[in-house]
Amino acid sequence: MGDLTSIHGAAAALTPVDGTDLRRTFAHFPSGVVAVCARLGGTPYGLVASTFVPVSLDPPLVSVCIQYSSETWPRLKNASRLGLSLLSSEQESAARGLSSKRGDRFREVELRAGNGNAAFVAGATAWLETSVHEQVPAGDHAVVLLRVHRVSVSPESEPLVFHRSDFRALSGKSIAGQLNSA
Ligand SMILES: Cc1cc2nc3c(=O)[nH]c(=O)nc-3n(C[C@H](O)[C@H](O)[C@H](O)COP(=O)(O)O)c2cc1C
Repeated sequence: MGDLTSIHGAAAALTPVDGTDLRRTFAHFPSGVVAVCARLGGTPYGLVASTFVPVSLDPPLVSVCIQYSSETWPRLKNASRLGLSLLSSEQESAARGLSSKRGDRFREVELRAGNGNAAFVAGATAWLETSVHEQVPAGDHAVVLLRVHRVSVSPESEPLVFHRSDFRALSGKSIAGQLNSA
């Protein structure tokens, strides 16, 4: 029990969860990077999240998990509309800037206005105009369900990938061809 030798190829034991191991384990799951932005009273607010998940087609819902320690989310959650920008492989420095605790978060970013308070990052791979649908407590994070109102994609651009605490780009190599047109 607890020995993963048969699936891992080398001796590897399952260990009880601690914060560092859990963070490292989660980091093995690659994700995109999404900027969540709004302009409130003329001031832009935003953060980046790697926890974006498409949730439902009907009604159209996506989610992000937001840590309760966030100082920016209490402002963003009041926005009539929130802009989600799925960052492109060219936008690593924008992602770093948009998550920084110091300095102007928007120094690397060209913002475009959407409906209501929504603000979008130019040069991203896709954009979703959303509003907060429901916020579900989940440990030290809130799972925020967002209703999608309008979308746009930039078919030629490649996504920024976050994997093992590093920013990466896709190799571009298709392994088995498309499942369906995307
Ligand atoms: C690649 C990356 C992914 C992140 N993903 C999340 C996330 O999914 N949820 C979250 O609450 N914060 C995430 N953060 C942290 C936020 O972007 C931001 O740094 C944090 O909310 C602290 O700033 P604030 O106090 O102004 O909100 C991520 C940061 C980086 C660099």
